Amino acid sequence: MNPVELIARKRDGKKLSPEEIAFLVQGYAEDKIPDYQMSAFIMAYYFQDMVCGNLFYDELASLTDAMVHSGEILDFSADFPLLYDKHSTGGVGDKVSFISTPIVTACGLPSLLLSGRGLGHTGGTLDKMESIPGIRVNLNREEMLRALKESGMVITGTTSAIAPADRKLYALRDVTATVPSVGLISASILSKKLAIRPSSLVLDVKYGSGAFMKDINQAKRLASCMQKILTELNRSCRVLITSMEEPLGRSIGNALEIKESIAILQGEKDGLEDLIQVSLALAAASIEMSGCSPAEAREKAVAALQSGAAYQTFCSFVEAQGGDVRYLEKPDLFPGARHCLPVSAPSSGYVTHIDCESMVLAANILGAGRFQLGDSIDHAAGIVTCAQRGTWIEAGQTLALMHSNRREALAEAEARILSAYRIAPQSIQKEELILR
Ligand code: URA
Repeated sequence: MNPVELIARKRDGKKLSPEEIAFLVQGYAEDKIPDYQMSAFIMAYYFQDMVCGNLFYDELASLTDAMVHSGEILDFSADFPLLYDKHSTGGVGDKVSFISTPIVTACGLPSLLLSGRGLGHTGGTLDKMESIPGIRVNLNREEMLRALKESGMVITGTTSAIAPADRKLYALRDVTATVPSVGLISASILSKKLAIRPSSLVLDVKYGSGAFMKDINQAKRLASCMQKILTELNRSCRVLITSMEEPLGRSIGNALEIKESIAILQGEKDGLEDLIQVSLALAAASIEMSGCSPAEAREKAVAALQSGAAYQTFCSFVEAQGGDVRYLEKPDLFPGARHCLPVSAPSSGYVTHIDCESMVLAANILGAGRFQLGDSIDHAAGIVTCAQRGTWIEAGQTLALMHSNRREALAEAEARILSAYRIAPQSIQKEELILR
């Protein structure tokens, strides 16, 4: 096969065969196809997708499959024929995995989530987990199996052996302005999910100021594309589209988010309704996939949360991965930041907008996230919001609390937080939190 001919066919909007796609992906992963040819190919792909609206789902399924097979496949189906996985396209204050996963597992479905770290946003799932002293987030295959047997729930880092072709392609997309192709994003996300062969997969596609997809129509296109690829691959999934127009829950920052998740698992609800709703909806979607009706699945999910069964599962998950469970029983043990300062509302009115990107930037300035690969993060740093969109606030009332060990960062973070909030005399009609 000739790469030039394949690039030309893609440029002209033609569909490539599974063999041709595998030739390109394997060749690229093995350094047989150079960056310049692969760059041309993915740019052609980007144009056909985003400019011409020309996507072939069977071809994308071949692309996904080729990326999965470029690396290790972690197949636990002999021990765990049912295995739940969830993927979120990422948001601000998104700690849903720590709530929905123990709910699902407490309902009898073992769960394995391979997650990553954060860059540009406030920590990733693994960074958040590492606020719990002792917890390990780099389990190998045997350790994953052992932890699955012990607690039924594992969240650990993805390994470099999983879908290496995707890692190489993603780095190339990053420097060739081809990341925002719905087709390429879908194949990239799914290649990492399918490498663990989950029996049920739930996707949380977020849209809004705090999401990768700013616009709901883009989110719908991404959701539909992933669903069609999975159908081509004979795999079922549930996809929820959820709003990320404001931080989910109240806290942004690693230990703060873990403490908020523990509080919900222990029964707290106040000001956390949006987060609880999204967590229950995602949990119910996966329970439904094990053969329940939507109503039964929802009932089971609510019962697992309310009875404390999900909290018990979370405790055994932390213990099985080496974490100190005393911190779950006594969250005051988590070291607090030296400075905890309120940001006050400059005027009275309704909170009509909270710009998530400014909030993330503020949290990162306070120490909660990385600006560059390799930066260390301060687990205690972050923001707790005190006013959600649609609520009335008086001038001088606290909009948010800043937590930081960096005194010099407080003024800049405060300015960012103030710029994130819009306060107006008229309230707003909030969008639906969850679309299915
Ligand atoms: N996340 C991924 O894993 N891949 C993409 O292409 C975009 C977001």
